[in-house]
Amino acid sequence: MKTVLISKLDKKNPADLWISGHFEKNDLKRLLSIEPSFAKIASGGIQRKRFEGKFGQTFSSYHQDFQNAPELVLFGLGEEKNFKKISLRKAAGQIIQMAKARKIKRVRVQVESFIGGEVLLSDAVAIFSEVALLATYEFDKYKTKKPEPDAKVETLELSLTERKYEQSLKGMIEYSKAVAEGVNFARTLINEPGNILNPQTLVQAARKMAIEKKIRCEILQEPALKRLKMGGILGVNQGSVTPAALIVLEYGKKFAKKGTVCLVGKGVTFDTGGISIKPAKDMEKMKYDMSGAATVIATLGVVADLALPVHVIALAPTVENMVAENPQRPGDIITMFNGKTVEVLNTDAEGRLILADALSYSKKYRPAAIIDLATLTGMCAYTFGDKAIGLLGTDDDLIDKVKKAGQSVGERCWQLPLWDEYGDQIKGHHSDLYNIGGPYGGTITAAMFLKEFVPEKTPWVHLDIAGTAWADSPRYDCPKGATGVGVRLLTELLANWK
Ligand code: BES
Ligand code: MN
Ligand code: ZN
Repeated sequence: MKTVLISKLDKKNPADLWISGHFEKNDLKRLLSIEPSFAKIASGGIQRKRFEGKFGQTFSSYHQDFQNAPELVLFGLGEEKNFKKISLRKAAGQIIQMAKARKIKRVRVQVESFIGGEVLLSDAVAIFSEVALLATYEFDKYKTKKPEPDAKVETLELSLTERKYEQSLKGMIEYSKAVAEGVNFARTLINEPGNILNPQTLVQAARKMAIEKKIRCEILQEPALKRLKMGGILGVNQGSVTPAALIVLEYGKKFAKKGTVCLVGKGVTFDTGGISIKPAKDMEKMKYDMSGAATVIATLGVVADLALPVHVIALAPTVENMVAENPQRPGDIITMFNGKTVEVLNTDAEGRLILADALSYSKKYRPAAIIDLATLTGMCAYTFGDKAIGLLGTDDDLIDKVKKAGQSVGERCWQLPLWDEYGDQIKGHHSDLYNIGGPYGGTITAAMFLKEFVPEKTPWVHLDIAGTAWADSPRYDCPKGATGVGVRLLTELLANWK
């Protein structure tokens, strides 16, 4: 799928479907100047209240004499004063879904008609081109019968009446493309099943991307993990036949004077729960338990594509939480990389064990900020559903930056407290710490556990993406499956890093 800018003079070459936005209560003046005959039909529809411009409402008409396409659609955007970037994301997604359903190859969007409220021309161009790539993503490599090739949207034409700012708008399209491709790359890694994507094949995928994008890549394989005494990573992977690894990617060392950002992502390629085994229902979904790792790896690729002036390290500890010959037992006491001891009361609370080692290892980069992403707790999905990322952290300034970045790209975060009192729940019996904190406040006690391993005086934010990393049903910008959440948030954060 590609996005191109066209001017209104390209009438000789009609598209298959043309779409204009329409705000409730606005007149049809602009439409009249672009598609006069359609404007007349639409004004009849508006008079008869067939179409009022309520958000998501559509009014369409077919005629051979229309100039832009034989089929024209007015897309309702609601009241202009309420129009937000997130509203446009939804509108753009619904429009692409509409085109997909009608087997349209070339869809033309009157882009200026989507400007209003919070949305500027540059936002409209960026959002349409990004959402189009996200909404047309498919994971069909294992389907032996592919959909017919004419069933795909091939071109999105963003039609402008004025040829202004063309260079910078083309730049926005390129930017959006890099971001959306990064999201889709993460989605594919996540959608891969556990028998294909294991810790070692994830390592290969990361290495391949690093070579393509000229990013430094270092893999700490099991002998190195043993030498470094990473008891958390090794303990969780004990029941797996595939060796664990810690993936380290580094981009932009020459920008280190602006401060180094460490991104840490949970890479459990399958989570059975181990001996504290999970119920069978929905267990197949646990192939997505490496979403955090996929996100940080993909983000480094995007940052390199965009050549952002910032020093970023991605750390992705990767394991498989299995039940086999010699798995971890409940009650096992393990010694972590930073020397603290942990009683593994529940082998299903494994994410925090591998993140803990990666978090303390990040100290060697003396980071100005650490952000970790993990499908860490079912409780977070219960709390926020798929509508918000759970956010916990130690530094108000960093928390604020992360929240703002999420808000701006439509990946909203909601903060939970990290009060010392919660720490009582994870104090160990025969060890320093338990790996679970009892039935209450599970998202918070998981983060309290991580906090024990964050290098001292280092601003840190933890993002629990258990509810947001997977779409249980198709969404306007994503089919059922991995969402790739976090790539856009992190890219936005790093693009504004100071
Ligand atoms: N990967 C899961 C978190 C999860 C569970 C995400 C269900 C989405 C849906 C994590 O490793 C886990 O199993 N967490 C446990 C922690 C508990 C044992 C303290 C959970 O949330 O049940
Ligand atoms: Mn688990
Ligand atoms: Zn897990």
